[in-house]
Amino acid sequence: MALEMESALSSDRQLGKNYDRATWFYDLSSALFSAGKIRASKKVAVSRLEPGERVLFLGVGSGEDAVMAANRGAHVTCIDLSQKMLELLERRLQAVGKSAELICGNAFDHQPTELYDAVAANYFLNIFYRDDMERMLVHAAGLVKPGGKFLIADVSPAQGSLPARLFNIVYLKLAMITFWLLGLVPLHRNYDYLEAFPQAQLVVEHIRTFRFLRYGPILFRTIVARRQGELAVNQATAATDPQA
Ligand SMILES: C[S@@+](CC[C@H](N)C(=O)[O-])C[C@H]1O[C@@H](n2cnc3c(N)ncnc32)[C@H](O)[C@@H]1O
Repeated sequence: MALEMESALSSDRQLGKNYDRATWFYDLSSALFSAGKIRASKKVAVSRLEPGERVLFLGVGSGEDAVMAANRGAHVTCIDLSQKMLELLERRLQAVGKSAELICGNAFDHQPTELYDAVAANYFLNIFYRDDMERMLVHAAGLVKPGGKFLIADVSPAQGSLPARLFNIVYLKLAMITFWLLGLVPLHRNYDYLEAFPQAQLVVEHIRTFRFLRYGPILFRTIVARRQGELAVNQATAATDPQA
């Protein structure tokens, strides 16, 4: 047991260090790789937040979305394993005169005294093997108040025509292999998080997809969901808005 904990801690430290090293190029490479769609997908997620809401960003990285949320007047808490990513986020917040609670640690260990109005897991769940991804989804959804919002901007499962699906698979796999070589993600098939929503007690409210350039294959998507509970019953009307 003690050995297992020690090995988990050391793999957290290693992953944190790998992301520390990626801090200087991470945002630029994701902007170039996605032609700005990664940022756009996070912007859609953040647009669901209201001023005064308490929101938690898991695996926030350098937090362009957390800064957007602070600018909207949300009370922001962020967790990440990478100290350097959080330092960059702190500078970004200071530059716009905002502040947030920044926690350097493992999101699995986060046990707040009060549940959040919203939790955002943007480009985060994708860095786990499937079992851990499902465990993290359940844990993260449990941090949201019943009826509260769960936001996911991430890569999209392949959809559409055969060429569009092939393009999605090859394009996203090449990105994953590059990140794997840098020690940032494990290799795995792309996830459809919706499959794990029932066990996390999440109900889809809205989905927005993002294409490669203007009319190309779908590569990214933003999911807005609600945690089931008294307030959420009958509230969720699944709607798909297929373009951006
Ligand atoms: C792929 S990056 C995404 C960063 C950011 N959310 C974005 O949209 O650009 C994943 C982030 O999760 C962090 N991370 C990985 N495992 C974590 C864990 N168990 N707990 C907290 N943060 C973690 C990494 O340090 C990294 O900054």
